[in-house]
Amino acid sequence: MKNKTPDFSWILRDREGRDVSIAKEMFPIEVARIARRFHRQIPGYQMSPLVSLPNLASMFGVGGIWVKDEASRLELNSFKVLGGSFALYRFIQNRLGIDDSKMNYPYLVSKEVKDLLGDITFASATDGNHGRGIAWAAQKLGHKCVIYVHSETSKRRIDAIRSYGATVKIIEGNYDDAVRQIAIDAKEQGWEIISDTSWEGYAQVPTWIMQGYSTMMAEIQEQFSCQGIPRPTHVFVQAGVGALAASVTGFYHSLCGEKAPKCIVVEPEEAACLFESARTNDGKPHHVGGALDTIMAGLACGEPSELAWNVLKETIDAFVKVPDYIAARGMRVYATPLKGDPFIVSGESGAVTLGALISMLKENGADELRDFLKIDDTSQILLINTEGNTDPVLFRQVIWEGSNPVPHEYWIDRD
Ligand SMILES: Cc1ncc(COP(=O)(O)O)c(C=O)c1O
Repeated sequence: MKNKTPDFSWILRDREGRDVSIAKEMFPIEVARIARRFHRQIPGYQMSPLVSLPNLASMFGVGGIWVKDEASRLELNSFKVLGGSFALYRFIQNRLGIDDSKMNYPYLVSKEVKDLLGDITFASATDGNHGRGIAWAAQKLGHKCVIYVHSETSKRRIDAIRSYGATVKIIEGNYDDAVRQIAIDAKEQGWEIISDTSWEGYAQVPTWIMQGYSTMMAEIQEQFSCQGIPRPTHVFVQAGVGALAASVTGFYHSLCGEKAPKCIVVEPEEAACLFESARTNDGKPHHVGGALDTIMAGLACGEPSELAWNVLKETIDAFVKVPDYIAARGMRVYATPLKGDPFIVSGESGAVTLGALISMLKENGADELRDFLKIDDTSQILLINTEGNTDPVLFRQVIWEGSNPVPHEYWIDRD
């Protein structure tokens, strides 16, 4: 028996009467150009691929499904390094008072800059990918790095951070506890925090991090224009603290104004702090507590970034929260594509938007959502595969062993 009730939840937001000025101020197109110019200079930089899944799109009756595949971004398997590296660029630029025209990568990693800066320890809390990006960038710059992780962080993720020379400390509790602890310890130790989430009095670095992600959208637009597509009609973006989602939607509002793609933000149901903030609907960010128990390690955040929330509350069209098996289904669909579609390696946090899109397109009970978002056979839908195989053991458990199976009543029954 097929279940008529969708197994995920949503909150819709009208565009009427929105104030998108903060989004536009925070993400001017000029900054995306600066970020891209910086990232292009990093040895090994390549545009990550934008791939099309035409057969999956036709199976579900939409115009196109496009995936920005960050699985091989700068050997780090995730988009996250774009933000951390750009924040370090801005940090050093600010400290030394150098303007953009003089800043270049060889200078940044030179002994001259190292001597001018003296000894710095960069520090951050992470649920995995951000810490890895910061450790990587700090090592390139020749500085020390301390990363705090929470007690549920997998050994593979910790080892990956340590492999770039960082000191890793495990904090009891969840991601938000690790964020709070590093803020205290950094003050005592004189460390420089490079956090992707913001809080009262701490906004500059997280702004730079979000702006650094714009490189990805600048690439996407170039790649779409080669396909004769001016912009996607819809973007599905996964969220932890919401920094990535704010960057995506901020960029598109700056670039396209009222024609900005509809933006759907997707969270794990056990860590859906943006969904909770939208549900409470008083304009303020709201927290969810507890273990934040989800396979989507990168999205296991209970407290939104305040800065990101200020952008998201004015620019998101639908807030969606989903159970873990929807992310697992996304991983399996990417890994075993329809004939003619490319194979994509996608981790739990990376694949959840594909899982959510499929659920949204197939469930009878989700027509309200499809109609509101005007998803039809002309839609060009953009997904971001934000990570590859960042936790190989968990990846194999899902793909090989079939962990987190989809309940029978939600199986796909189309040809
Ligand atoms: C793979 C992956 N995708 C998405 C996100 C979400 O980013 P944000 O916390 O900015 O919402 C993260 C965050 O760490 C991540 O690691």
